[in-house]
Amino acid sequence: MKKVILDCDPGHDDAFAIMLAAQNLDLLGVTTIGGNGYLENVTRNALVVLEKIGRTDIPVYPGHSGPTLGELIICENVHGVSGLDGPVVSEPKRKPETKHAVDFIVETVMNTDHVTLCATGPLTNIAAALNREPRIAQRVDALYLMGGGAYAGNWRVAAEYNIYEDPEAAYKVFHSGMEIYMVGVNLTRQCPVRKDFVEQMRCLGTEAGVFAAELCDFFGRGGDAHLHDPCAIAWIIDPDIIKEAYLHVDIELTGTLTRGMTVTDLRFLQTNDPEKDIDLNSTKRWDDPPVGSPFRGEAPNTHVGMRLDYPKFCELVLNTLRNYN
Ligand code: RIB
Ligand code: CA
Repeated sequence: MKKVILDCDPGHDDAFAIMLAAQNLDLLGVTTIGGNGYLENVTRNALVVLEKIGRTDIPVYPGHSGPTLGELIICENVHGVSGLDGPVVSEPKRKPETKHAVDFIVETVMNTDHVTLCATGPLTNIAAALNREPRIAQRVDALYLMGGGAYAGNWRVAAEYNIYEDPEAAYKVFHSGMEIYMVGVNLTRQCPVRKDFVEQMRCLGTEAGVFAAELCDFFGRGGDAHLHDPCAIAWIIDPDIIKEAYLHVDIELTGTLTRGMTVTDLRFLQTNDPEKDIDLNSTKRWDDPPVGSPFRGEAPNTHVGMRLDYPKFCELVLNTLRNYN
């Protein structure tokens, strides 16, 4: 099993990421970051989820409470005041670790081979770990992150929440030399919280299945929710579950309308077909003769998730929840 550290801000969809990782990967630890909720709440929620699935052996390390610059904006309108509204849960029996998340990430990566990082919240902890020890960029096998979007955002027109919350941290990460797999909202929009999927969870006959369904009942109450974060973990578990394009991605820091945008160079994949904007099977290279522009762009630096095998994803989630008997 791949060794993974999951940095997250639970968060209903982060909770699914934890449940998938704990069973299908060697989850070395969970680190938390202020995002969907305040740090104290997301840390408590991580402990709640791990207790719910009987994995109190997995440690939880609190990290930064907010972004590099500015104030934290939580997603109370999506995840509720607690960050995990919906299911009735008891307070966790365990306390989080006293070690800081950044210390845990740096120490673990420097002392353990083949660690994969996964981030499903703002990238503040990951950037701080890189600042502390730049060599982790070469030490880790890869960073899989839920964040950004190849075409558009969600929290803002051009920016997705996790990147928008801390663009300076994202810039540091995308310029670190890490092998990056980006699960943006262009991918996660293919992973809706569908009612039939939720009822399948509920009918599994396991406590984890009921818990997952109740998370979705709240998270999907508006009728247009997506299970963003578990897509990143699913890609680590099954490399074939997502079809990618290897593209250049950079982070906008100063745009009035575009701060926090993951600026993705898709130009060489564009077609002349009005029915099909891009062709993932294009044989064109990023540096082929430019499309009339003198600026050829830069070499690809990011594995960008483009197509999700949703039925395979649902099967993975249901099998995982079924096995938490
Ligand atoms: O934009 C979606 C992301 O923001 C997800 O990680 C969700 O949990 C929130 O953190
Ligand atoms: Ca999240």
